[in-house]
Amino acid sequence: MKILVTGGTGYIGSHTVVELQKQGFDVIIVDNLSNSSAAVVERITMITGIKPQLEIFDLCEAEKTFRLIEEHREIAAVIHFAAFKSVGESVQHPLKYYRNNLLSTISLLESMKRNGVKHLAFSSSCTVYGQPDELPVTEQTPLKRAESPYGNTKKIMEDIISDTVKTADVTAISLRYFNPIGAHESALIGEAPSGIPDNLVPYITQTAAGIRPFLRVFGKDYDTPDGTPIRDYLHVVDLAKAHVIALKRMLDGKCKDRFEIFNLGTGAGYSVMDIIHSFERVSGLKLNYQVAPRRPGDIVKIWADPSYANRKLGWKAEKTLDDMMRSAWAWEQACLHSSQTV
Ligand code: NAD
Ligand code: WQD
Repeated sequence: MKILVTGGTGYIGSHTVVELQKQGFDVIIVDNLSNSSAAVVERITMITGIKPQLEIFDLCEAEKTFRLIEEHREIAAVIHFAAFKSVGESVQHPLKYYRNNLLSTISLLESMKRNGVKHLAFSSSCTVYGQPDELPVTEQTPLKRAESPYGNTKKIMEDIISDTVKTADVTAISLRYFNPIGAHESALIGEAPSGIPDNLVPYITQTAAGIRPFLRVFGKDYDTPDGTPIRDYLHVVDLAKAHVIALKRMLDGKCKDRFEIFNLGTGAGYSVMDIIHSFERVSGLKLNYQVAPRRPGDIVKIWADPSYANRKLGWKAEKTLDDMMRSAWAWEQACLHSSQTV
């Protein structure tokens, strides 16, 4: 059975392609390589022994998207990762984000509808909850006004998908990820941010690798036990596995509604200092960090109630925080020693 994976050379997409192939699915990737490299395909092939097909184009090009799906009648479902994802950049360039994230999704949905592709798994984000009034966050927790254009694209895309499934013969599952970190155990694929990382974990590993002089801890005066913000970090391979399970749920006709939403997290909240301490524990290194002013727009604390996904999908995040940090560090070291950047 063939699965179309948009954004499949990216961070979460590449790990999901590996899990799909391990479960016997045939994969076609569409990616415009705006934030990834074609070399990822070789890395996936080294892990699984199977080379996924890569089509390089921009999903906003509706005609190309339509043709690809038309030419591959055997595509049974789509997993849609492709999007721009930098919160800060989206504040600076909102139209770039609205154009890319919304047009690509509309183009994809139209092409699926016209070609009779019936199932869609969508990458959503805990960012749609903003700073919730109550924790942990369930799927019923009210959404807050998005803090950034990026977050707003996720909310709007969920609305577009939810409206579309009412009129098309399509089922969709939106997966609201909390904070994915870590890398594949082979250290052949992982997160490869271009330029200066926005996110905590790649910043930590790049600092330890000597690429950055020190980590700035954005605020130590929050209302949390150690004063630093709390998030629900989950291992990218656990996250990738959830996609395969969600896909099978749709293919097996087990969805309760045409549009379902699941929170994907561990249910545990860790502070920035917890993450630093875990890194130091698994690497045996002392991390150079300095406390800096709060980062504008940061929420204080958020973690998931993943029990709905645990029950309905039979999925549970398995890796510990130390597993996550160990794999992130192994990946950073592999990048340092590799002549080939991915
Ligand atoms: P990523 O940037 O590594 O992967 C996205 C991929 O999509 C990239 O390879 C990029 O080249 C491609 N792409 C972007 N726009 C495209 C277009 N118009 N046409 C074709 N390809 C396009 O990001 P990621 O971390 O793997 O995130 C995957 C998805 O998960 C995104 O939708 C992101 O918003 C969402 N998400 C990510 C996180 C996170 O922390 N990484 C958290 C929640 C949700
Ligand atoms: C985590 C904590 C920072 C960098 C982002 C997006 C969200 C979702 C996940 C896509 C915060 C602190 C960070 C640094 C630091 N992505 N930090 N120094 O902000 O929870 O979420 O990624 O949907 O939409 O906003 O993740 O890794 O950037 O930050 O102190 O150099 O680490 O202040 O408390 P965040 P993050």
